[in-house]
Amino acid sequence: MSMNNNKEERPSPVPHNELGKPPHRKPGRQVKVTSGLLVAFSLILLSAIPNIAGAFRVTELIGGVDIMSEDERFIEMPLPLVAHILLASVFSVLGAFQFAAGFRVRWPGWHRAAGRIVVLSGLLVGLSALWMTLFYAPQPGTGKLLYVFRLFFGSAMVVSIYLGFTAIRRGNVPQHRAWMIRAYAIGLGAGTQVITHAVGLLFFNPPTEVSGALQMLAGWLINLAVAEWIIRKNQVPKSAI
Ligand code: HEM
Repeated sequence: MSMNNNKEERPSPVPHNELGKPPHRKPGRQVKVTSGLLVAFSLILLSAIPNIAGAFRVTELIGGVDIMSEDERFIEMPLPLVAHILLASVFSVLGAFQFAAGFRVRWPGWHRAAGRIVVLSGLLVGLSALWMTLFYAPQPGTGKLLYVFRLFFGSAMVVSIYLGFTAIRRGNVPQHRAWMIRAYAIGLGAGTQVITHAVGLLFFNPPTEVSGALQMLAGWLINLAVAEWIIRKNQVPKSAI
């Protein structure tokens, strides 16, 4: 009876990380691509409404199609907003796959290549957000409180991406992971704010300057709380990715 004894000669099916080491995982623990895809699609779903609204706004500004209520502030200087919207969709969609463990482990080359695009687009989303806050006339119905929140979280997003990027250049994976999760959480505040606004409307309808700003703040704080929980829940050894 012949048995196939060639198993040991085959290359390991477990892909190695970018440092050439196998990922630090408990024996028998399989990272499933499907569960990673579920994470990615849930994140994409969260950012779907602002991304769809953004597509409508860009269509209106570039194509002159009247889909959304016109806003004079954007017509005079559309570039920062158009860049913000397009890059935010790249950041939110591509960034979602960076959190899918199966993807990262199986295709580390993809994680690195996509990561560079996510870093660049995320930085420009944060910087364009800061530019619009500082130089566009205030959004009607908003006041100083939202102005301050946007400056704070826009800056925090830029700083988090910078710290996440410099951490991986030093080979510090846990720091890289933590700062990129924080940056993504701040960016995806736009998605959670759709929910906090909907809930807020049950109590303040129409929203006031203050209630509107607090609903925005709630979106960012909820995301950051979830981010901190994820960071602490799955601590990754320094050399693993
Ligand atoms: C991936 C995440 C993000 C998405 C999908 C997104 C999407 C959008 C969209 C669609 C608009 C246009 C709104 C309109 O047409 O009225 C917009 C505007 C804006 N966004 Fe974002 N955004 C994101 C992240 C952020 C972040 C993190 C900040 C700041 C901390 C920010 C600050 C702003 C500002 C200041 C405006 C202009 C608002 C105005 O003056 O009317 N965005 N964003």
